Amino acid sequence: MPSLFQPRSTDRRMLRILAISGSTRAASRNMALLRAFAAAGLAEVAVMADLAALPGFSPDLEGPPAPPAVEVLLAAIAAADAVVIACPEYVHSFPGALKNAIDWCVSRPEIIHKPIALLHASHRGDEMLVHLRRVLETVSSRFAPDIFLRVPIAALPEAEVVRVLAGAELKAALARFVRALTDWVDEPVISRPFDGTALDGADGLP
Ligand SMILES: Cc1cc2nc3c(=O)[nH]c(=O)nc-3n(C[C@H](O)[C@H](O)[C@H](O)COP(=O)(O)O)c2cc1C
Repeated sequence: MPSLFQPRSTDRRMLRILAISGSTRAASRNMALLRAFAAAGLAEVAVMADLAALPGFSPDLEGPPAPPAVEVLLAAIAAADAVVIACPEYVHSFPGALKNAIDWCVSRPEIIHKPIALLHASHRGDEMLVHLRRVLETVSSRFAPDIFLRVPIAALPEAEVVRVLAGAELKAALARFVRALTDWVDEPVISRPFDGTALDGADGLP
């Protein structure tokens, strides 16, 4: 099965992160944020190209093996130290393409103890975040709701988006995000209860 990650070349500890955009839109700001995250060089980030390539979920097709595109996703999750998702709000929730991907993962072992955290490219989308957090805490014992970075670029003009994504302020915030995620990856596998209060103090750009 092809891997999205290069073989580990050194003993230097750099987190391997699978980045998934909930938006399949070509000009997605969430995808742009994930690409900026990958380009920042703070972790080994593999960006999953297209959730829309996954077939529609059916328990009848689960396998194993599942369809090839699903097995590629599951192998990438298995190879990653953590998964980072950035997602828009669609109709007060998260898009069907992301739910479809999660449904493919839910009865497979790769996701169960996988550390997961969220980036978010909008000043809006709080209902989506509630739904997505609820789903992610169900599928992984290691979803970390308080490792969260909001980068409100959804409504900015393109030139301003480029400026924010290339800026030192974002890089510093992403470095804090990666440090928190690294600490969480290194913690023993014990699930944390989620009461939602951590979100109030979550990191974010103004
Ligand atoms: C089908 C659809 C439904 C949407 N529903 C909502 C919504 O319920 N609430 C909201 O704040 N924005 C909604 N939006 C706007 C998107 O969340 C917003 O444009 C987002 O920034 C797009 O992210 P992207 O640039 O990563 O694709 C919707 C957009 C689409 C295409």
